Amino acid sequence: MARIESEVGTPKGGLLKWIDDRFPLSSTMRQHVTEYYASKNFNIWYVFGVLAMVVLVIQLVTGIFLTMNYKPDASEAFASVEYIMRDVEWGWLIRYMHSTGASFFFIVVYLHMFRAMLYGSYKKPRELIWIIGMLIFLVLMAEAFAGYLLPWGQMSYWGAQVIISLFGAIPFVGDAIVEIIRGDYSISDITLNRFFALHVIALPLALIGLVFVHIVALHEVGSNNPDGIEIKEKKGPDGVPLDGVAFHPYHTSKDLVAIIVFLMIFSFVVFFAPDMGGYFLEHANFEPANTMATPEHIAPVWYFTPYYAILRAVPDKLWGAILMGAAVMLPFFLPWLDRSRVRSIRYRGWIYKSALALFVLSFLMLGWLGLQPAEDVYVTLARIFSVIYFGFFLLMPYYSSIDKTKPVPDRVVYNAD
Ligand code: HEM
Repeated sequence: MARIESEVGTPKGGLLKWIDDRFPLSSTMRQHVTEYYASKNFNIWYVFGVLAMVVLVIQLVTGIFLTMNYKPDASEAFASVEYIMRDVEWGWLIRYMHSTGASFFFIVVYLHMFRAMLYGSYKKPRELIWIIGMLIFLVLMAEAFAGYLLPWGQMSYWGAQVIISLFGAIPFVGDAIVEIIRGDYSISDITLNRFFALHVIALPLALIGLVFVHIVALHEVGSNNPDGIEIKEKKGPDGVPLDGVAFHPYHTSKDLVAIIVFLMIFSFVVFFAPDMGGYFLEHANFEPANTMATPEHIAPVWYFTPYYAILRAVPDKLWGAILMGAAVMLPFFLPWLDRSRVRSIRYRGWIYKSALALFVLSFLMLGWLGLQPAEDVYVTLARIFSVIYFGFFLLMPYYSSIDKTKPVPDRVVYNAD
């Protein structure tokens, strides 16, 4: 007996067709997942983008649960975190996942950015992906800074005091800016409230939006690869890049392995070393904020210390703040500072390779120095490594253009063994 379909009933083809007639589900999945072709020679450096997404989700989910019991009030904040740790069911796990997640976010994002520097992923036509990435990085720093004030511990308070007071060095408008950030004449309950609003609503929204446009920009031009070769230029008769494989299932299956290994390392830290010896959660922050007693050494969490070391390397407060800001902003200009004809480190000469190695050394050393007291030898070393850090960027137009490059092959290099 023939089935009679009413005009408004479910059409032939089931639920998926019903949805596709109203929403571009299948075509979007094809375009961005099953028929998004990325180079077959991706290596381990290519997993950090996906891992950054995993950490973003961990932070959003654990953050929502923390907010259910946290009190954004200067007289209750510290105690509410202790309450979460001791009395709320699984509260300790949620809180440690969130605090460990913050450090892992920066580990993953720093490695993700370094990959782009290894393979020249910021070069034409991917400049916008890089710039959006840098905006993500700025928002991420603001997000971590605002979040660190919330437990209202000694380091929360004094760390914020040091960094916010830097704006006071700006001529004429400095004091007014400091007051706007604090919302008060000193860091107070009002500051805590506005940082809470920024940390739980404004900045996460900005992050999610930026990550979305980051991926849209990536899928518009296509991913780079460890050889820095444009795979779209060599297509088969079916229009598929000869060196490309579908994102799903080929890259997703590799990414899944990376996610599992990542979660194992993450769990190890959460369960066995959540404060990481004072690097992920500073010891002074286990004491409630005391406006009358400054901690002996004020140092930010490790991911800010390279910039903090630059700040302290300069004797003048205003210039210190300017150079610290410049250190954060300079990578924005990488697409235009780098004049090399090739993208990937594989085909660059010794000059760029040495410059990149020196840059990594300076960044790591500045990170370490930012954790040390601002005394003689440490300050001298911080000055030397700051010069190297700035030299890497400012001299790049010159040394990247004279560096002898190797010929880039036509097709990507891939050895399946
Ligand atoms: C929440 C933070 C971030 C997330 C979730 C994220 C996500 C991703 C994903 C999923 C990819 C594609 C997979 C991959 O190539 O690894 C990607 C590519 C890329 N990202 Fe990010 N990203 C983040 C932050 C950043 C930052 C801070 C930068 C640089 C300042 C950046 C620069 C790039 C570049 C240049 C590419 C293209 C790489 C290539 O094709 O070789 N991203 N990102």
